[in-house]
Amino acid sequence: MRDFIYNIPTKVYFGKDQLHHLGEELKRFGNKVLLTYGGGSIKKTGLYDKVVKEVRDANLILHEYSGIEPNPKLSSVAEGADLCKKLDIDVILAVGGGSVIDASKFMAAGRYYDGDYWDFHSKKVPVEKALPVVCVLTIAATGSEMDTTGVITNEATHEKKGRSAELLRPAVAFMDPQNTYSVSKYQTACGSADILSHIMESYFSHEKGMYMTDTAMVGLMKTVIKYAPIAYNDPENYEARANLMWASSWAINGFTRIDKGTNPWSCHPIEHELSAFYDITHGLGLAIVTPRWMKHVLSDETLDRFAEFGIEVWEIDYNLPKTEIAREAIHCLEDFFYKDLHLTSNLTDLGITDKYFEIMAERVSNYSGEPRYVEMSKQDVLDILNASL
Ligand code: NZQ
Ligand code: ZN
Repeated sequence: MRDFIYNIPTKVYFGKDQLHHLGEELKRFGNKVLLTYGGGSIKKTGLYDKVVKEVRDANLILHEYSGIEPNPKLSSVAEGADLCKKLDIDVILAVGGGSVIDASKFMAAGRYYDGDYWDFHSKKVPVEKALPVVCVLTIAATGSEMDTTGVITNEATHEKKGRSAELLRPAVAFMDPQNTYSVSKYQTACGSADILSHIMESYFSHEKGMYMTDTAMVGLMKTVIKYAPIAYNDPENYEARANLMWASSWAINGFTRIDKGTNPWSCHPIEHELSAFYDITHGLGLAIVTPRWMKHVLSDETLDRFAEFGIEVWEIDYNLPKTEIAREAIHCLEDFFYKDLHLTSNLTDLGITDKYFEIMAERVSNYSGEPRYVEMSKQDVLDILNASL
């Protein structure tokens, strides 16, 4: 277990009757608000009208930037950041999912940066100042509402990269599970796959000794496994939507990996290459890649962890041989993604071929951070991608 600092300061308003606090929270940061949102789901659901009413009732000046796409593009970030400069915005109000919140985080940082906005992701220039971001979450998935990361796609170079900085963590998050009732079955499934993946990416680590966070991760994984199919089949089930929403935040806000240093992830870098080239839904890519990654890294060295995963998370009989438990655990995960959540099980169905696999594998393996759970050479990544076809 490593030393750590716990500092997760996002103020969360969770539940059905919290939006009336929006005005007072925004006012803490100033009076010029940029409302950011995506392709219009918030207009269809009526959330847009509710949010605008709160902002107007608080006598704040409201500007808008809309049309942020899933897998948000650098061009959208640039337009939003330029707008923040031009209008001298005080606070960004992001209403939507991970894409809207991620793009808003880099609009917030871009407000104070005069170079190319991609520098944050490519050159890792420091985020020295950023506008505060207040968010109203509409889909349980990425955890962006409470984490320090923004994942942006550079459409010109087909690169999709995440960048984290403490200043990007939303100041306030409004989480009303009812706002996720309208999320489609498909996006509910993809979001749940993403939450589960965030937990698994931390769970499969060599850092030992933190039974407390290990056990909490098991609880979080079981929460997703229990409630995702319920939300999928019964979209207005409050308990299911609420459990998924709160799990999404705690899966990635830093808590599960706080004792594990940087703990580099394995499946996310591969998926980000896929969605950079093919603009696929992030959670779907993870659901396809993760079981293949697991089969690829299962070995004598990792067997104990996979067996624990099988016994604790999937409740497989601990009397069975460990290899059998490990294989059965991967099989349970496949059933969860492809049967319970009806997600596509392969890349071929998405029209993806091996055309860009070389460059994807090169980029994933060209990495110099701390060791991953299991190191991945270019050939390893190629094997995982080919097995995903
Ligand atoms: O754009 P609108 O019209 O709002 O529609 C969205 C979008 O089409 C729709 N949607 C969202 N809430 C809805 C709704 N439709 C009906 N009712 C609602 N209440 O769902 C679609 C997907 O939205 P999006 O924001 O793209 O989903 P998600 O939250 O999964 O975000 C995905 C992005 O986040 C990145 C992903 O790579 C991807 O770019 N990630 C961000 C992370 C982070 N910040 O830490 C970590 C993740 O690993 C991930 O990489
Ligand atoms: Zn993710």
